[in-house]
Amino acid sequence: MNIKTLLSDRISMAMVAAGIDSACEPMVTLSTRPEFGDFQANGVLGAAKRMKTNPRALAEQVMAELDLEGIASKLELAGPGFINIHLADEFVASQVSSQAQHVRLGVNETEQRLKVVVDYSAPNLAKEMHVGHLRSTIIGDSIVKVLEFLGSDVVRQNHMGDWGTQFGMLIAELEDKLGKNEAPELALQDLEVFYQQAKQHFDDDEVFAQTARDYVVKLQGGDAHCRKLWQQFIDISVAHSEDLYQQLNVSLTAADVRAESSYNDDLAGIVTELERQNIAVDDQGAKLVFLQELADKNGNPSPVIVQKSGGGFLYSTSDLAAVQYRANELKADRVLYFIDARQSLHMKQIFLIAKKAGFAPEAMQLEHHPFGTMMGKDGKPFKTRAGGTVKLADLLKEAVSRATELVREKNAGLSADEITEIGRKVGIGAVKYADLSKTRTNDYIFDWDSMLSFEGNTAPYLQYADTRIRSIFRKAKIDKDSHKAEIIIGQNQEKQLALKLLQFEEVLQQVASDAYPHTLCNYVYDVASLFMSFYEHCPILKEGVSEESKNSRLMLSKLSSDVLSKGLELLGIQTMEQM
Ligand code: ARG
Repeated sequence: MNIKTLLSDRISMAMVAAGIDSACEPMVTLSTRPEFGDFQANGVLGAAKRMKTNPRALAEQVMAELDLEGIASKLELAGPGFINIHLADEFVASQVSSQAQHVRLGVNETEQRLKVVVDYSAPNLAKEMHVGHLRSTIIGDSIVKVLEFLGSDVVRQNHMGDWGTQFGMLIAELEDKLGKNEAPELALQDLEVFYQQAKQHFDDDEVFAQTARDYVVKLQGGDAHCRKLWQQFIDISVAHSEDLYQQLNVSLTAADVRAESSYNDDLAGIVTELERQNIAVDDQGAKLVFLQELADKNGNPSPVIVQKSGGGFLYSTSDLAAVQYRANELKADRVLYFIDARQSLHMKQIFLIAKKAGFAPEAMQLEHHPFGTMMGKDGKPFKTRAGGTVKLADLLKEAVSRATELVREKNAGLSADEITEIGRKVGIGAVKYADLSKTRTNDYIFDWDSMLSFEGNTAPYLQYADTRIRSIFRKAKIDKDSHKAEIIIGQNQEKQLALKLLQFEEVLQQVASDAYPHTLCNYVYDVASLFMSFYEHCPILKEGVSEESKNSRLMLSKLSSDVLSKGLELLGIQTMEQM
């Protein structure tokens, strides 16, 4: 149990004993300043207001009933009726000692093993993955890792876009190239170039354009020849994404792909069902759903097309089929979507229609977790110098090469192989962390210099902090992983670090519930910073430090490193022995 919960329970009991209604919350929070103790309870104030009684007198009564023997060293009544709690050093020491011995670092698995579907990454396969796919991919993956660590049964769903009208054009182009005896791998080596060529062809050549249009219809109708060409294209495009996932240390594999095309056979049924329930109506041959719930200022309902007048289905139709699949086949309790904020209206429409039509049970939680845009330093969406989209592959290459240069400069003692390995982890880590550490819902500015800085809230700083701890153990000739000792709290820096480490579970639970990874970033950054100040003030290996103190501080260092590397691992960022 975390300390906050423990304190809340005890204070609730005291509040009831003091005659306060048991519905009143104790409102325990971390103190904002050290003078106010380690925690404060602010709930008495509200209770006094409701009871129309003097809050300070009521708080005094609560304090008289409060039993924090062995937990707190001092209680204070502050301000109009706050209770400040100073924790006893011995209590903090025993708590943090057991956390340090615990294989899961004090983080318990949740009792309810929820089935959680996470929809993320989902690039459109017609083109190469570009920076626009980065955020969904890495934010989604870190939330997946946190949920899994907390014991949820997670199903990754990569809802790749592989079924739009562009595919007619792309397979016609592929057919053309294969006809000229080009090998498919070669023709599709650069998907971006291939797309441009196909588009050019389409615009310039009416015969080709007609073939392309025919192929869309044939493909969706299951024509074997078109299907085969399409499959060749998709296989190469998926392999390209997988390669990027690997480079990014993202856990998605081919097994997680459940692309738009996989719902093709369900689409007609979705529309029929919507019509049967009078949710969809015919509008000049097209099928539409009008949502009054999302009406505009003038009261006009929000229209959603689920089938075009020509018979074609849409992005929204596949999304409805996906909800149904996730409910019926995957039996999800919760579905999280990591998609650009610009699709917020689309998601609202889908969730509403799905619930109305009963494609998902009422209890199934459908959550869109939107994110902002990655901007260049000029404050406009991030582009190449020439104004084109930046390929993700190029961005990662540049990150690794910049980081490798830095590592080479900083540590001349490393071998060439070590530099390559460390440069890769630092470069990829920096790009990911720069993104994850910003509040998801905002746009953010992509800036090489700040993300690769060894100071501040960056991946290199955190990775470096961890290597510092590992080097202390090397210097002491003690194996970090097998070191065991009781932690003693003497100095304030030890106490502050220990209290921070003890919040690990609470922070992860928060991240699992609201899906904001920056909370975890801020937390690991606090751990690293508090470790640094502990390390400055509390000598470990210096002469004159008692054996007991040395071992205790080593243990606190070990736990700091473990929490830091576990936290970074859950963010998808790798740590290392030295850098
Ligand atoms: N392929 C889509 C895009 O690039 C994202 C798909 C997100 N997932 C979903 N179920 N709609 O915009």
